[in-house]
Amino acid sequence: MTRWFNTAGPCQADIHYMLPALERLPSVERLILQRGYFVIHAPRQTGKTTAMLALAQQLTEQGKYAAVTVSAETGAPFANNVGEAENAILEYWRWIFQATLPEDLRPPEETQAPPGRRIVSFLQSWAAKCPLPIVLFIDEIDALEDDVLISVLRQLRAGYPRRPRNFPQSLALIGLRDVRDYKVASGSSPRLGTASLFNIKIESLTLRNFTHSEVKSLYKQHTVDTGQVFTDEAVQLAYDLTQGQPWLVNALARQMVEELAPDPSAELTVEHVKQAKEILILRQDTHLDSLAERLREPRVRAIIEPMLAGQELGNVSNEDIQFLIDLGLCVMSPAQGLTIANPIYREVLPRVLAFTPMAALPQITPTWLNADGKLSLDNLLQSFLSF
Ligand SMILES: Nc1ncnc2c1ncn2[C@@H]1O[C@H](COP(=O)(O)OP(=O)(O)O)[C@@H](O)[C@H]1O
Ligand SMILES: [Mg+2]
Repeated sequence: MTRWFNTAGPCQADIHYMLPALERLPSVERLILQRGYFVIHAPRQTGKTTAMLALAQQLTEQGKYAAVTVSAETGAPFANNVGEAENAILEYWRWIFQATLPEDLRPPEETQAPPGRRIVSFLQSWAAKCPLPIVLFIDEIDALEDDVLISVLRQLRAGYPRRPRNFPQSLALIGLRDVRDYKVASGSSPRLGTASLFNIKIESLTLRNFTHSEVKSLYKQHTVDTGQVFTDEAVQLAYDLTQGQPWLVNALARQMVEELAPDPSAELTVEHVKQAKEILILRQDTHLDSLAERLREPRVRAIIEPMLAGQELGNVSNEDIQFLIDLGLCVMSPAQGLTIANPIYREVLPRVLAFTPMAALPQITPTWLNADGKLSLDNLLQSFLSF
């Protein structure tokens, strides 16, 4: 079976080169045993969904739990209509349960409840019917905002003391940010600002990047399948440029083996890595694009701009710095303090920052030129006078 380097969404073991999905989340199984409710937050495209899909499947297959990974994303279009959002979320969840759980573990057909109670009542009636304890991973939690987000968090908190018989034994919220950074429009801050709505959580976990030896072992899978070799220097450079960011690691390799050197007898060298990097940066792939999008937020710019210019950071709050770290844009190192997360981002960010002011410049129409582009002295004089 041919496999590829994946750059589009969660990995599937039968078609993608991939590292063991759960290695980077060693404490999750302990938290589940402890009936814990927890948060997993990590930047976009680090492998959260891949890991949680794999874990849910593994737990269900072991026969001890009814475990499923669902997403809250379908509730996103209904920012302030709780009932509609709950319906959209539950309808989608039911389809997921249908597709992933054996029949005896699935939730009951219909549950009736008023808006604001539909999630809690659904989970209650499922837990009451299900012969095994339920483990539920809710991905893309930060797609929800405002009233809907607050309602969902409240409902989970309300059901929590009833676990495991009448509510999921263990539950994880998965997203980019930790609870207090979830988006809400109410109050003075655009964020929740507090974890108290989900104060039942025992831990917030995050997902680290790949290590050098993990990058090496991922690339090695391609060598084993095809015979095509990456030189040690090429692997080292790929690691240095990406700092192990999982999507970047895959994107560089994909560019090399599919576009730059599709003939497996060609060895992959430092030159290939450099070329692949240039192409990725120029192409501004979705991943890089979504980072660039972040620069529209004033609190993000307020930190990134002086960093790129090598200036002192002004008066920025620790919370804002933490937010940039959560987004994966920056890392904090004991030796260097706050830095841009990897050399590829470091090249992408200034280009984006330079592009916006350029695009915003007014179109200058030189009135002192004739239609054929020649200088018109009269018009020039007129322009000068009015200037
Ligand atoms: N276990 C893994 N092995 C190799 N690459 C991975 C693995 N998990 C994630 N990736 C890389 O990260 C990308 C994003 O994975 P995904 O699970 O969708 O992340 P997230 O949910 O954090 O956005 C994948 O397209 C792939 O390039
Ligand atoms: Mg995901």
